[in-house]
Amino acid sequence: MSLISKPLSPKTWPAFARLVERHGGIFGGCWCISFHLEPGEERRGAEAYRAMKEARVREGRAHAALVFDGPTAVGWCQFGPTTELPNIRSKKAYDEGRGTLPDWRITCFFIDRERRGEGVATLALQAALRYIGRLGGGTVEGYPEDYTDERTSSSFLCSGTLGMFQKAGFQKSRKIAKRRWVVVRKVAPAPTKHSPKGVPGIGPAPTGGVPPSG
Ligand SMILES: CC(C)(COP(=O)(O)OP(=O)(O)OC[C@H]1O[C@@H](n2cnc3c(N)ncnc32)[C@H](O)[C@@H]1OP(=O)(O)O)[C@@H](O)C(=O)NCCC(=O)NCCS
Repeated sequence: MSLISKPLSPKTWPAFARLVERHGGIFGGCWCISFHLEPGEERRGAEAYRAMKEARVREGRAHAALVFDGPTAVGWCQFGPTTELPNIRSKKAYDEGRGTLPDWRITCFFIDRERRGEGVATLALQAALRYIGRLGGGTVEGYPEDYTDERTSSSFLCSGTLGMFQKAGFQKSRKIAKRRWVVVRKVAPAPTKHSPKGVPGIGPAPTGGVPPSG
């Protein structure tokens, strides 16, 4: 298996769209839009969400690390600044105990049903952190579920597992639901070929092998 990561962009949109289509729009038509939505944009349906997501991608307002096996996108890790991703799960509890907002959020993972348990989400998270570095770095929060040493329905894990984030260098910050944590780490800025002077921009696709699956 040879997997590489590429940023979600107008160029990779068709592969992303095919992945979503293979899974019925994700949750019946979410199109990975829910964490982007502003008040009043909800409940519009799959077609509208697809169009909204595509428009955001074309405008550079939707970021994700996609994982590819050849030409096929097999998963993603969504990330973005808090202005781009105003929603998280357990938002009320989050807001009650919140200090300064982070520079970046990692909100959502989705891996092709046929490709789970191979380390794809782990690879997508690593790639997202690399892209964040290229975009200037800063404080990054995730909101994973603690199912350490336990299995659960993979649908509950759209924000990832606590173990994945801890292995990627995140520290627990606070709990916002029975099993949901705010986790945080810093990412150093990394110069890119496309932004040699430190101008933010997603650079070319980095490559990376998959950690051995357990
Ligand atoms: C949860 C999900 C992202 C995991 O992807 P994956 O590629 O199979 O994950 P990995 O193989 O990289 O494993 C990452 C960790 O998650 C753990 N994990 C994966 N599925 C799990 C499950 N169902 N229950 C408990 N832990 C699980 C793995 O054991 C691994 O733990 P480790 O790091 O301690 O070894 C994937 O199952 C998925 O896409 N679920 C659907 C999410 C969804 O509905 N998203 C919709 C977007 S709103």
